[in-house]
Amino acid sequence: MAKPKRRYVCQACGGVSNRWQGQCADCGEWNSLVEDAPQTVFSAKHDLSSGGRPIHFTPLDQPGEMPRRRASGIAEFDRALGGGMVPGSAILMGGDPGIGKSTLLLQVSAHIARSGGQAIYVSGEEAAGQVRLRAERLGLSNAPIQLAAATSVRDILTTLGMMDPPALVVIDSIQTMHSDQIEGAPGTVSQVRGCAFELIRYAKESGVTLVLVGHVTKDGTIAGPRVLEHMVDVVMSFEGERSHQYRILRSLKNRFGPVDEIGVFAMEGDGLAEVGNPSMLFLSGREEPIAGSAVFPAMEGTRPVLVEIQALIVRLQSGATPRRAVVGWDNGRMAMLLAVLEARCGLNFSSAEVYLNVAGGYRLSDPAADLAVAAALISALGDKPLPGDAVWFGEVSLAGEIRPVAHSSIRQRESAKLGFSRAFGPAGGPAADGKADKGIRFAGLAMLPNLVDRILSDA
Ligand code: TYD
Ligand code: MG
Repeated sequence: MAKPKRRYVCQACGGVSNRWQGQCADCGEWNSLVEDAPQTVFSAKHDLSSGGRPIHFTPLDQPGEMPRRRASGIAEFDRALGGGMVPGSAILMGGDPGIGKSTLLLQVSAHIARSGGQAIYVSGEEAAGQVRLRAERLGLSNAPIQLAAATSVRDILTTLGMMDPPALVVIDSIQTMHSDQIEGAPGTVSQVRGCAFELIRYAKESGVTLVLVGHVTKDGTIAGPRVLEHMVDVVMSFEGERSHQYRILRSLKNRFGPVDEIGVFAMEGDGLAEVGNPSMLFLSGREEPIAGSAVFPAMEGTRPVLVEIQALIVRLQSGATPRRAVVGWDNGRMAMLLAVLEARCGLNFSSAEVYLNVAGGYRLSDPAADLAVAAALISALGDKPLPGDAVWFGEVSLAGEIRPVAHSSIRQRESAKLGFSRAFGPAGGPAADGKADKGIRFAGLAMLPNLVDRILSDA
């Protein structure tokens, strides 16, 4: 006999609890648990071993169909997706409010519509007139996109069911959608999950590419339950600082391709422009080298991107607790690097405030940034500018060793292309093969104290 059981779901992380609590036991958020639709619990006697329909098996080695892809016409968007949109797939796009999700998706829809596919754009946040105004600003008002302002998933699916399946359906955003068959206000876990489920089922059955826009909570995860990330094929995040021009489209999960490629855009007066060669973007282009600034050749997927890392150290007179602030890099990683510099090199940061900034609103995730960050910190501490023609890359271990990293020749070649003539990196490993074909002089450093000597003695 099935009996309904109460359960409570956290609106922040999707954690489930059997009773209501003031604080979520999984993520620690307060007042985030709400009652979810009752789950049916089957008793042990419930028999699932007969009465179903047979399913069809195919051998793994049989040549299957490769997913066909459809190019959107926006190369940076297709690159982040791993080569274009797969029909019948569901893409979740997250990002801070105002970062440009609606703008990008309207541009993608226009490209599809102009190249002969049908594109449907459903906005639950803006009236059709507002979307049309934006399209005018983007110079897209003559693109044959089908616009609608709607929030009822039943209405949307009924309408879609009456027409030939379009190439692309954009739902902006999933948090504004609701279904009259599910309890709760739009944006609650059960609504978001239920609406997404129905829309994804439609996409799979009809071979439509579905893009769901998802809001992001203050800790950076896509709002609503994490299950949304499990339900879709691709999770993308659109990142950048709103005050800066550059935007990065990153895929965090992709069932059809790699997750390390990024798309780079610049937000301009008439929408998002593609940045095909981003390697120069995050350099300040300053003439005179100043203390605390180091250039790091980062890798994003297969593309090198040169970024400037800036450190500032302020000595405190009083015994106040010094601040440490990091923008664009991992806080914990900086704490570790400071500890290694203190323990292995005898440097003293304990009575100083330390600020670290990655230029241009870029977020570093490449572990090879350690050496460049260390170089910036040492240069700031000793007030010695680093040579203006040098780049730095390598991973630092807790023992203070400088460890080899991937793609060292691509990093060096790109640095040479942009006019740098010296690269400092891990001694040993493939970087130190001494070949001059990269157009750059390579100097290998084995241990962090070698780096300190290099910077503080080499004026
Ligand atoms: P939007 O796409 O509405 O962001 P999201 O859907 O992620 O919330 O983008 C809004 C911001 O982009 C807005 O603050 C203004 C800016 N913008 C431009 O700079 N140029 C443009 O051509 C457009 C359409 C927007
Ligand atoms: Mg929007």
